[in-house]
Amino acid sequence: MSIWNKHEIFEKHSLVLTIGILVVVAIGGLVEIAPLFYLKSTIEKVEGMRPYPPLELAGRNVYIREGCYLCHSQMIRPMRDELERYGHFSLAAESMYDHPFQWGSKRTGPDLARVGGKYSDEWHREHLTDPRSVVPESIMPGYPFLAEAKVETRDIADHLRTNTVVGVPYTEEQIEGAARDLVAQASPDSDNVDAFLERYPNAVVRDFDGDPSKVTEMDALVAYLQMLGTLVDFSVYDNKANLR
Ligand code: HEC
Repeated sequence: MSIWNKHEIFEKHSLVLTIGILVVVAIGGLVEIAPLFYLKSTIEKVEGMRPYPPLELAGRNVYIREGCYLCHSQMIRPMRDELERYGHFSLAAESMYDHPFQWGSKRTGPDLARVGGKYSDEWHREHLTDPRSVVPESIMPGYPFLAEAKVETRDIADHLRTNTVVGVPYTEEQIEGAARDLVAQASPDSDNVDAFLERYPNAVVRDFDGDPSKVTEMDALVAYLQMLGTLVDFSVYDNKANLR
């Protein structure tokens, strides 16, 4: 009896066959997937990426709360039509501090991965308040309440701390100063701006909602939208990686 006849065991016992399949599939999976965790090119380190300052993180939370991701993606695919319309394709490292990531799966509206700097703050404010006032044919809903809603500062330190659990490198100092830093980024005249910029050197300080009397969810969301896609300097990558 040759060893080939032993195959009968698998053919006659469904449980043995199931276990056999699991073993074979597990080996296949390991061979395909395990190396990805060790290859440097899976997540290429890129210069410019930094954790979100508290105001931008609060804006991101509003983005998630309001379900913007249901109509907007944040991932530019490496295909010519997308490169022409949106710019350089998204790199994995660009969402390294996104928990959860906002790649999205549906585009009722355009991709937002590089919307930062495309419009003025004022355009965003008007568009978010009443989309049809600036884009008459728009089907996007308005979010006028954002300009009235004061942004919540009580729990922002906890949001930073929670992000450290999944690997975002916020320092203890950044967590402690979170509530102050949140207000400072939208208050150019505040005494806390210098300390804020020391903790987040390449952040932008501006009164994003045009209302210096309070820091609103509009401040937070516009701050977030205006930094999207602006952190990595793609002139460095264009020669190497541009598919055009
Ligand atoms: C029902 C789907 C829908 C939802 C929900 C939605 N949008 Fe939109 N959005 C659109 C459409 C359609 C457009 C294109 C027309 C326009 O500019 O208004 C658009 C355009 C935009 C633009 C301009 C993009 C560009 O490059 O011109 C921004 C910025 C934007 N949306 C942000 C948001 C934010 C922030 C939210 C959540 C608060 C949101 N959208 C929720 C459908 C949606």
